[in-house]
Amino acid sequence: MSTKVCVTGSSGRLGPHVVAELAAHGYDVLAVDVAPAPPAVTDLDVATVRADLTDAAQAVDVLAGCDAVVHLANIPAPGLRPDGVTFTTNVTMNHAVFAAARTHGLRRVVWASSETTLGLPFVDPPWYAPVDEAHFPRAESTYALSKVVTEQVAATYARWTGVAHVGLRFSNVLGRDDYRRLFPAAWADPHARKWNLWSYIDARDAASACRLALEARDEQLGAGASAGAPNLVIAAADTCMTRPSAELLAEVFPGVELRRPVEGTTSLFAVDAARDLLGWEPAHTWRDTLEA
Ligand SMILES: NC(=O)c1ccc[n+]([C@@H]2O[C@H](COP(=O)([O-])OP(=O)(O)OC[C@H]3O[C@@H](n4cnc5c(N)ncnc54)[C@H](O)[C@@H]3O)[C@@H](O)[C@H]2O)c1
Repeated sequence: MSTKVCVTGSSGRLGPHVVAELAAHGYDVLAVDVAPAPPAVTDLDVATVRADLTDAAQAVDVLAGCDAVVHLANIPAPGLRPDGVTFTTNVTMNHAVFAAARTHGLRRVVWASSETTLGLPFVDPPWYAPVDEAHFPRAESTYALSKVVTEQVAATYARWTGVAHVGLRFSNVLGRDDYRRLFPAAWADPHARKWNLWSYIDARDAASACRLALEARDEQLGAGASAGAPNLVIAAADTCMTRPSAELLAEVFPGVELRRPVEGTTSLFAVDAARDLLGWEPAHTWRDTLEA
């Protein structure tokens, strides 16, 4: 019998990639979103349900019969809605989903945290680079604060249930269509995308991180304070820029400590923890699209 996984936020930017990744790997996927499913989801052989997950009863309803959840639904950035709405909507929804997962005894919770918990936008310089999991908590928006709070909620539910809750601190999720539109324009201006240290994550690699977070054995998921509820940086291996990362950092954020050598255009975010705990590696770069 295949594992039944609920993917929330399945009609958004990242959701269809996660649905496709899980369906391709034999999972029985239930795609849940308040918005209608797009063709990228309806073209797949997966069940879809419309639900508002800020409503605890609807969250309990949709998770019935599932083995695990990949919870992506949220207001996905600052500035889209009034600050208070972003905070209360996300925290309410995330709590409802974690509580529903507990009600039904789901065996794994994977959810979308964010790189914004680590200090984005970098108006002020990062404390050090490469930025890693310990560059936390540094919320600069109510959106980021909603994710910081949710990491604590996840840790508490992991402790109450003994079920691992894996938070993925995604970088800016982009797809092949985004690279040509966004990146060449940034090459001449090192300040244009300094807000996240020129980072990004290809949506296909974000999706593989979700799958591997479902598949990791409990023993893989860390010890110590984060046991059962690790929150992992998920970023591409390179920056969006053509200039060397160390040179960019020195020019835009002079004096920031570089804690290890960063060769060429290597990312200024460290993904060692995701590699160690999940066996995840980013496989895609914008260079494959723009240099093809
Ligand atoms: N896009 C990025 O660059 C990025 C970066 C870091 C983290 N994230 C996080 O990843 C997740 C997915 O991001 P995305 O870019 O795909 O966002 P998105 O807005 O494209 O997709 C989110 C989906 O959630 C759904 N949704 C919102 N409120 C809902 C509710 N009450 N009930 C049910 N569904 C609801 C929306 O309809 C939408 O389809 C989010 O949690 C976001 O915070 C995104």
